[in-house]
Parts: sequence; structure tokens; C-alpha cells
Amino acid sequence: MNTPSLVTHTPFPTFGTSIQQDVGSAIEDLLAELPDPQQLCADQRRGIIARYTAVLEGNFIYWMTGAYLSVQSEQARAIVLDNLLEEVRDSHPRMLRIFALAAHAIPTDSDTLAIHRDLTNVRLFVGRLSGVRIVVMMAFFEGFIQKFMSYLAELAAGQGSAEFEYTDVHGVCDVAHTAGLFNALAAEMTLNPPEPGADLFEGVDLLRTLIKSIVHPGSTARM
Ligand SMILES: [Fe+2]
Repeated sequence: MNTPSLVTHTPFPTFGTSIQQDVGSAIEDLLAELPDPQQLCADQRRGIIARYTAVLEGNFIYWMTGAYLSVQSEQARAIVLDNLLEEVRDSHPRMLRIFALAAHAIPTDSDTLAIHRDLTNVRLFVGRLSGVRIVVMMAFFEGFIQKFMSYLAELAAGQGSAEFEYTDVHGVCDVAHTAGLFNALAAEMTLNPPEPGADLFEGVDLLRTLIKSIVHPGSTARM
């Protein structure tokens, strides 16, 4: 555990605030690029839901587990563990599968292939187990997901679905998760700071590219 003096004299709170602002800006930029749902045809709506499912269903818990294995501070571990507990106990992958099923958007081979390369890049990044950077990436992800839920629900409604447990739960619970992850980030930067000059947004950039391949398949082919 940290001593009070370590926490009091940490040079990182201002740095952490700056990261939080940059994460917020990255989320807003990504949301601004979403196509107007009213302009999408049924196949485009189905594709976004299916690719989102292909990425999230089997990877979110895996990546959060990577965060758990990477962080060193007790506070960060507790916050990430609480997040994982909720994912597993309430079976969020089950919720997402039901959501996709009801929207007639179960991922196909081509949906899986469309996100394959960018998903691989995020998986390899998580495998490097860089605590602060993974927590920054997951804070970005939780923050994005929370704001993306109303959009995703609108796509599903356009598909004739009335199944919104997944989007309802994540539009609410991820508010607390995002705040918790920024608390975890502050604790981790105190105990296990990144090396000087480290690119703290490497995971965010890779994940942002992956989300773009969910929304605009083929758009990241030359990035
Ligand atoms: Fe979840």
C-alpha cells in the first residue's frame, strides 16, 4: 500500500487530469464520426451491430483481465476486479449475444474478417501488459461504450428489435466504471508510473482504429 506522503506528493494528478481530458476528446471525436442512423440501410445497421458484437463479446473480459494482470496498485486492482466481477456475474457476453440475436445481427465470417487485423493489434498491445496504458485504453473504451449505447440501441430498433437490456445496462453502469478507471489510473501512475516519453495513448489509438473498422469497415485498411 502507498504511504500517505507518497500520495500527497505525487507529481501526477495534473498529468492525470490532462489524460482524462484527452480521453474525453478522443471519445467525442469518435462519436462525431458516427454516420447518421437514419441514413443507414438495414445491411449497414446489421453490420455495425455484428462487428461490434464480434469485438466485444469475446474480448472485453479478456482485455479487462489484461488490465488486472498489469496493474500493481491495490486501488487499481480493486477497481478493475469489481468491473470484472460484474461482467462475469451478470454475464454481459450473454446480454450482448441476445442483443445481437434480436437485431438479426449475429456476426458472420465476413464481419469477423472485417475487424480481424485491427482486433489483432489491440490483442497484441494488451499482451504487453503495460498497466497504465491498458487502464487508459479501458477508460477510453468504457467512456465510449457508455455514450455509444443510445446509438447502438437506435440501430437495433431500426432492425425491429425490442431487446435493450445490453444497451440499457451499459448506458448506466459504465458511467461508474469510467470514473472508477480514472481513479485506478491515478493510483497506478503513483505506484507504477510509465517511463518518461512513453506513449500513453498507444492503446487508445489502436482501439480507436478498431472502432472505426466496426463503424466504417475497410476505412482503416491503409492506416
Ligand atoms: Fe459489460
